[in-house]
Amino acid sequence: MTTQKVQEVLGKIPVPGTNKDLIYLKMVDKIQVEDNKISFELTIAHAMMKTHLQKACTTALQENFGKDVEVAIQFNTEIGSNRMDKKDVLPGVKNIIAVASGKGGVGKSTVSTNLALALAKTGAKVGIMDADIYGPSVPIMLGIRGERPMMENIDGKGRIIPIEVMGLKAMSIGLLVDDKQAIVWRGPMASSALKQFVTDVNWGELDYLVIDLPPGTGDIHLTMVQTIPVTGALIVSTPQEVAMADAKKAIMMFDGPQIKVPILGLVENMAYFTPAELPDNKYYIFGKDGGKTLADQFEISYLGQIPLVQSIREGGDEGKPAVLNDEDKITQEAFTKLAEKVAQCVSIRNANLDPTKIVEMTT
Ligand SMILES: Nc1ncnc2c1ncn2[C@@H]1O[C@H](COP(=O)(O)OP(=O)(O)O)[C@@H](O)[C@H]1O
Ligand SMILES: [Mg+2]
Repeated sequence: MTTQKVQEVLGKIPVPGTNKDLIYLKMVDKIQVEDNKISFELTIAHAMMKTHLQKACTTALQENFGKDVEVAIQFNTEIGSNRMDKKDVLPGVKNIIAVASGKGGVGKSTVSTNLALALAKTGAKVGIMDADIYGPSVPIMLGIRGERPMMENIDGKGRIIPIEVMGLKAMSIGLLVDDKQAIVWRGPMASSALKQFVTDVNWGELDYLVIDLPPGTGDIHLTMVQTIPVTGALIVSTPQEVAMADAKKAIMMFDGPQIKVPILGLVENMAYFTPAELPDNKYYIFGKDGGKTLADQFEISYLGQIPLVQSIREGGDEGKPAVLNDEDKITQEAFTKLAEKVAQCVSIRNANLDPTKIVEMTT
């Protein structure tokens, strides 16, 4: 029994939701072997993986080195980051997740809001930024419509303090400008307003900042990736052909040679309809498996399905997000699983790809 051999065994344990192992993903540290005791540190992206990995590691090590081997794992739920920019924008923010769709009305804001809350439920420090300048809906979904954020003065510069709600820090462009004003902004004006908005908010320390982007694939998206260091993009689509065609454009924009922001994965929203009284019945009213096919085609991770259920719509309209509704287990589980996978994809991205930085356009 040597540290080398322990490493070999751990190098065969897959991480749920990925096809990579613990060693490959650099999750193991400080392996020690003493008499019949093996100890090491295991860094995980969220607490939910703990039980599974505790068991998987113990079983594998005991199978290799004998039943009476004692396995002591110290878990760190430190959420990593791999920013390498100068950190003059959003300096305390570890990971920035841009939620994009191409098409509007597919549930981008719904997914952003419930994802942010589900991540926060795992103990992470999470912010949500509503950057949908033409249709900001996060204030309604979080029940903070009409609130006016406070300002503070830091080194002679006015900074916006995000609103604290349901364990999140939240900010929306809709809380700063009224609807009638924003709607007439076009092109450069919208981009420059957004640029200022994004950098003027004082987020403090965050593990994840979720950004609800406007639909489309235009100037605003380019401005965004050139202003802040986006860790990865999450693509939301419904299974319909028209939505998928637009999702493709969004994938190609982020993935394209000019921008190269990694795609964390694709989530299929309104994947099937489930009536509350018949939770086992699934009706694929917008088509079946479209999201999976699209994800396969572009070789991006498929992060699963969110069902179409009335309570999600109601929760959104009433400012009571579905993921917090304990009576709605199906929805709660769907968003919790999504958050788990997103956290995992972020940590895989940080371990394997080039460091996150602000995009510099090449042409
Ligand atoms: N899975 C779902 N089940 C039921 N209603 C949903 C679901 N996802 C979104 N909705 C509803 O559809 C509408 C559009 O969603 P929204 O998140 O605002 O889309 P987007 O931000 O992409 O424009 C909202 O009324 C929302 O409550
Ligand atoms: Mg929206």
